[in-house]
Amino acid sequence: MRQADRQALYDQAKQWVLEAGEAIRTSIHKPLRIETKSSPNDLVTEMDEQTERFFAQHIHETYPEHKVLGEEGLGDELDDLTGTVWIVDPIDGTMNFVHQKQNFAISVGIYQDGVGEIGFIYDVMADVLFHAKRGEGAYKNDQPLPNLDERDVQLEAALIGLNNFWTTENPRVETKGIHALVRKARGTRSYGSAALEFAYLAEGIMDGYVTMKLAPWDIAAGMILLSEVGGITTRADGRTVNLLQNNSIIAAHPNIHEELYRDYIILKNT
Ligand code: IPD
Ligand code: CA
Ligand code: CA
Ligand code: CA
Repeated sequence: MRQADRQALYDQAKQWVLEAGEAIRTSIHKPLRIETKSSPNDLVTEMDEQTERFFAQHIHETYPEHKVLGEEGLGDELDDLTGTVWIVDPIDGTMNFVHQKQNFAISVGIYQDGVGEIGFIYDVMADVLFHAKRGEGAYKNDQPLPNLDERDVQLEAALIGLNNFWTTENPRVETKGIHALVRKARGTRSYGSAALEFAYLAEGIMDGYVTMKLAPWDIAAGMILLSEVGGITTRADGRTVNLLQNNSIIAAHPNIHEELYRDYIILKNT
């Protein structure tokens, strides 16, 4: 993608992200219709759908040749990532949205032929926008984020993002490795929004994030942001992420990425 085209697309996407965030903020105290999807803990509200519809409609009207991959299924069905694809999580952290009315984000990643070009992670209630363009660095609002290698991170002194669920017996990952990681790292954190966890990695206030089975929209923007500051995202076995399916993920400061998948994340063969 030419730099001028990327800039124009970035400007338009940014306007929609901020507009969608404003709409959520203004209705945050209105009563919500809350439904469940795959399990009683898998929540969705009309605001998730309304926000995804907002993006899908605007994108399809303005850029008829672009495609949309969104969590709530209001975009397109994709078999590949050719062309320009917007990967949208209208609300990442729906449980936080419902229970806390804060700590959730809009996540938008724009890919060209499978290459991440533009990423936005908008912490709606804090009104903090993390954003990045490929090759042009990552920002928190107007503040450029420093490259991660400016800090010499070791696992003993690292903060690792980890959902407590993976410390309990589960079909995907050996708990003995996760337990060893919990003991080795300085601390673990669980924020309940994969997009915000990626943003915190890019900001350097967390050093690793390990989680099983994330969807493309959870990570599409975050991977772009993190790569712009020298962070690494792979599948939990070290392979390249596939944005057409769910992936178990290790995202981290470059000093500790390999150690995490080599010594601590032992996947089960399921
Ligand atoms: C969820 C959040 C959560 C992660 C889940 C995701 P949603 O996304 O990112 O942190 O642990 O796996 O599904 O459903 O709130 O958009
Ligand atoms: Ca969801
Ligand atoms: Ca999500
Ligand atoms: Ca979501």
